[in-house]
Amino acid sequence: MKIFIFFSIAAPRITTLLETVDASLDHNATFICEVDSYPQADITWTRNNYPIRYYDSRYIIRENGQMLIIPNVKDSDNGEYCCIASNGIGEPAKSCGALQLKMKPQIKRHPTNMTLIVESKAVLPCLTLGYPKPDISWIKEDDLIKVNSRISVLESGSLKINNIKKEDAGQYRCVARNSFGIVYSKPVTIEVQAPARILKVPKEKKVQIGSEVTLECNATGNPIPSITWLENGNTVNPLLYTHFSLFPTFLFASLLLFLLALALRSKLIVLSSHLTVSESRAQCVHVKYASVCAAINRIQTTIIPQAADRTAAIRFKPY
Ligand SMILES: *[C@@H]1O[C@H](CO)[C@@H](O)[C@H](O)[C@H]1NC(C)=O
Ligand SMILES: *[C@@H]1O[C@H](CO)[C@@H](O)[C@H](O)[C@H]1NC(C)=O
Ligand SMILES: *[C@@H]1O[C@H](CO)[C@@H](O)[C@H](O)[C@H]1NC(C)=O
Repeated sequence: MKIFIFFSIAAPRITTLLETVDASLDHNATFICEVDSYPQADITWTRNNYPIRYYDSRYIIRENGQMLIIPNVKDSDNGEYCCIASNGIGEPAKSCGALQLKMKPQIKRHPTNMTLIVESKAVLPCLTLGYPKPDISWIKEDDLIKVNSRISVLESGSLKINNIKKEDAGQYRCVARNSFGIVYSKPVTIEVQAPARILKVPKEKKVQIGSEVTLECNATGNPIPSITWLENGNTVNPLLYTHFSLFPTFLFASLLLFLLALALRSKLIVLSSHLTVSESRAQCVHVKYASVCAAINRIQTTIIPQAADRTAAIRFKPY
C-alpha cells in the first residue's frame, strides 16, 4: 500500500484568526495566528502598523511565527496587532486583533479631610488607575452628587466646588467604575467655616447713674465666635464684675456680662452679648461713652465701624 500525501501549492491561509486579547497588567498576552500554507509561509507581526522585529526583546515569537507572546503587559502595549503570512504565491494573508489591558479600578490618591471657607473654591482629588479608564462619580453622604454650574467632576476625576456654601459640609467619597469592577475611596469630611460677623451691634443708650443697662451684641460664624467686650480699649474681665454667666448650648450660646463699668461712681452697667450657632468671637469696644463690637474667629475679624449710628454709647444723666 502506498500513501500519497499531496501538498497543493497555494497562497497562505490563516486558519485561526486573531482575536481581541484582554490582558491583565503584568500578565502575559498571547496572540495565535495559525497558518495553513505550502510552501511554508513567512509570518511577520505588526503593532499599530509598525513591524515587530524578530530580535525585539519586548516580544517572544514561537511556533514558526504563529504565536506572539507579550510578557508582563503594560499600559503602553495596548494597540492593534496583526500577523501577515506570505509564501511568495498570491496575496499575503492578514489577520488583526486588539490587545486590551484589563484592570479593575484602583484609587491611587484618595481625597483628604478639608476645612473650607465659605465663598472660596476647592478641588477634592480622586486619582485612579484602571483599564478601561474608570468613570468617576462622587457621593455625598449616600447620594450621588449631581453636577451643575457650581459643582463639577474634572477630567482627572477630581471634584471641583466653586463658591462654597455652608450646605457643602458633609462626608464625601469618590467612586471609580469600569467593566471589571467598582471601588470606593475612603470617606472624607468637609468642614465649611464662615468668618465671624456681627449681626447685632449695641445700641446707644441713655441711662441714669446708678441704674442698670444691657448692651447686646449678636455674632455669627463657624467656628462659633466668642464674644468679648472692651471698655475704653481694655478687655472687660467678667469675673471682676458683680455677676457673670455663660450658657453655651449646641445651637446657641449666650454670654451675659453684668459689669460695674465705673466703679468709682458705683454705677452698675450690664453688658450682654449673644452668640448664635456656628459662630466665633465678638468684641465690643466701649470708648469713653461709645461701644463698638468686633466678632473674631479663626477665619476673620469683623469690626463694626465706629460710625455714629453703629456705636453704642452709655451716657449718664447728671444727678
Ligand atoms: C510569561 O512569560 C514569561 C516568558 O515566557 C514566562 O517566564 C512566565 O512564566 C510567563 N508568565 C505567566 C504568568 O504565564
Ligand atoms: C477625617 O475626618 C473624620 C471625621 O471627622 C475622622 O474620623 C477621620 O479620622 C479623618 N481622617 C483623616 C485622615 O484625618
Ligand atoms: C442673633 O441673630 C440670629 C440671626 O439673625 C437670630 O436667629 C438670633 O435669635 C439672634 N440672637 C439673639 C440673642 O438676639
